[in-house]
Amino acid sequence: MSLILKSIFNVWHHLSPDWLNWADQLAPAAQKINRHLVEALDLPALAQAAGGKDLVVLDLASGVGEPAFGIARILASEDDPALRGYVIASDIVPGMCAGLVERAVAEGIGNLSVVAADMEKLPFGAGTMDGISCRFGVMFCNDPDAALRDANRVLSTGGRAAFMLWAPIVDNPLFAAMDGILGNILGTGFADAGLDLFGFADPTLATSRVVRAGFGDVTITTHNPAGRIPERAAFWKPQMEMLFGPQLRAATDAERGAIDAAMFEALRPYLTDGHFQVPICFHVLAGAKG
Ligand SMILES: C[S@@+](CC[C@H](N)C(=O)[O-])C[C@H]1O[C@@H](n2cnc3c(N)ncnc32)[C@H](O)[C@@H]1O
Repeated sequence: MSLILKSIFNVWHHLSPDWLNWADQLAPAAQKINRHLVEALDLPALAQAAGGKDLVVLDLASGVGEPAFGIARILASEDDPALRGYVIASDIVPGMCAGLVERAVAEGIGNLSVVAADMEKLPFGAGTMDGISCRFGVMFCNDPDAALRDANRVLSTGGRAAFMLWAPIVDNPLFAAMDGILGNILGTGFADAGLDLFGFADPTLATSRVVRAGFGDVTITTHNPAGRIPERAAFWKPQMEMLFGPQLRAATDAERGAIDAAMFEALRPYLTDGHFQVPICFHVLAGAKG
């Protein structure tokens, strides 16, 4: 394994306990935003093109289950008999895959299998997938363009892929506050931690990368929802631990207290009527294999 690959792997390897720890609690909020990705994938059109055969959807960089679980549930639902199939969830980190299996078993999701895989070199044949989903994953690859090309390779003709991507940090005040405050108090931000969240933030550049990888019929939509969270909740904790868990565990109680106090102050402008309403901003970039 090269040094760069090894360090990317290690970042996520050390974070897998944090992802498993928060996954169930975050699932309802995740499902709210996942619907934009699922819409872009257009499962009914894929089912129609498949002419009644079960769909196979590959979810890349699945972490511990988003959006793989939601897609699997749609493809197992009795609501639309024409929409059937299963999901292959995948992630480069075995600890994430193990957490995903544990959660899938606990939730009784039967139409899903898990494969530990680097999305830059997928262990699947050309044209074997009807659809591909990827939520907040491709930007973390060592070579994201290789990952986009391999996604295109494994898609069948007429298949669709949809990627959820962070918009710029200035439109994501939670991440901006986290980056600055952890930098001040712990001396680590996204760059030091090896986390490049914003490599697909520019919609024009992101679109051109997907086109260059071979996709056609490319669309990009931008979304900026804001949840309403009671003031007393340190709502930044899950995201912060899922990105900086090891650094927070190594911090002192005083440092952790200072981080929470500074986050509260930084996000105070988003406080109204005893509730935080902090927007997040992301793109959904989708394309088809012609
Ligand atoms: C921000 S998490 C997203 C997880 C999940 N899709 C979600 O939204 O909850 C990024 C994931 O990308 C995975 N990852 C990073 N590089 C990868 C690669 N080259 N191939 C496959 N997975 C990768 C990490 O292990 C991690 O689980």
